[in-house]
Amino acid sequence: MVKDRTQVAIIGAGPSGLLLGHLLHRAGVETVILERHTRAYVEARIRAGVLEQGTVDLLDEIGLGGRMRREGLPHKGVNLAFDGARHRIDLFGLTGGKKVMVYGQTELTKDLGDARDASGAPIVYEAEDVSIHGADGESPFLRYKKDGEERTLACDFIAACDGGHGVGRRSMPTSVIRTFERVYPFGWLGILADVPPCADELIYARHERGFALASMRSHVRSRYYVQCAIDERLENWPDERIWDELKIRLGPEAAARMTMGPSIEKSVAPLRSFVAEPLRWGRLFLAGDAGHIVPPTGAKGLNLAVSDVRILARALTAACQKGDPSLIDRYSQDCLARVWKAVRFSWWMTQLMHKFGEGESFETRVQQAELSYLFSSRAAQQALAENYVGLPFADA
Ligand code: APR
Ligand code: PHB
Repeated sequence: MVKDRTQVAIIGAGPSGLLLGHLLHRAGVETVILERHTRAYVEARIRAGVLEQGTVDLLDEIGLGGRMRREGLPHKGVNLAFDGARHRIDLFGLTGGKKVMVYGQTELTKDLGDARDASGAPIVYEAEDVSIHGADGESPFLRYKKDGEERTLACDFIAACDGGHGVGRRSMPTSVIRTFERVYPFGWLGILADVPPCADELIYARHERGFALASMRSHVRSRYYVQCAIDERLENWPDERIWDELKIRLGPEAAARMTMGPSIEKSVAPLRSFVAEPLRWGRLFLAGDAGHIVPPTGAKGLNLAVSDVRILARALTAACQKGDPSLIDRYSQDCLARVWKAVRFSWWMTQLMHKFGEGESFETRVQQAELSYLFSSRAAQQALAENYVGLPFADA
């Protein structure tokens, strides 16, 4: 049995785990990252692509913003489409000069993987059967298998950055954890295609046939979504049907500028809001999707992961280097305050923009009223804008 030791054992090499590893390495704290899949698998996963101003600033600050600055697309506004009309929300003007950056999570994950390589700090891909031991005591450790061989990794702290289906949250006793969940009765069918985007900025559309979103990865690669049934079968959606549906839902202006092309990726994702409380049990910490899931409306998932990890890195650094537990004691409450605001915002946007049932109802009238209020009220637009570009970090 191979035995190792480190200060912080990190489970998961998605954006949360890799960024935490990077921040701790910069602070002089030793880490080992264990990831169940291969690097190629992790880097190929297609996820959202909008970075909040605070995420962009953090990446710049820690020297990881180079490629993002060259290849990402800064956006100063976002569009809402409804009833055949399109309204631009002036993010920049309404927030005193803040923007978002359109840069795929896939690209950010590659940048973080390269930074890990450059740091020389260890990362074990294809680590199987990771299990957590002694998290409520003084000497926690992980067990896992690599190439069929049993290994242990002793540590001072464990960071579970292992996503919505990881081992971290499952290892917390049910008596200490409380969960909150909302499952939405639909999914998003996403399509990626090498065609120029149909608009300069994103379009979120509410339509009687269902929600649609026009997004992008670059000037020559587009990402689109349509609301679909939760158990939708991809066979039912040949590319032509998706393009036709997008043209109807996104409105005539977008349709006129839409370039169609073969999909290079197509998938259905369910929509869910989920929060686990607390995000800490003894020496085990949950960060990113391990602790909370948001529906993609508003693109908060990755940004929340970044804000958790920022707080966790500071807390673990103080604990490891100064023996000061005050920040780890506050980790869960500090994170959750911001998490719930993003959960609220993505729930609100989901609620506002989707079709929830057939025909007209009390709810559809309220949606119409809210959209019409939003289009006519600067105060309402400002509330959307300040959430969309990202609320301040909890410790800022
Ligand atoms: N052992 C080792 N690794 C694991 C285990 C396990 N038992 N379980 C999960 N993992 C790995 C997964 O393979 C994945 O690479 O943990 C990683 C978790 O990464 P993400 O799911 O990307 O989660 P996170 O890093 O928190 O990033 C959050 O991803 O899902 C989006 O919307 C979300 O954008 C947000 C971001
Ligand atoms: C995306 O580009 O994939 C994207 C953008 C905005 C969202 C969700 C997804 O709200």
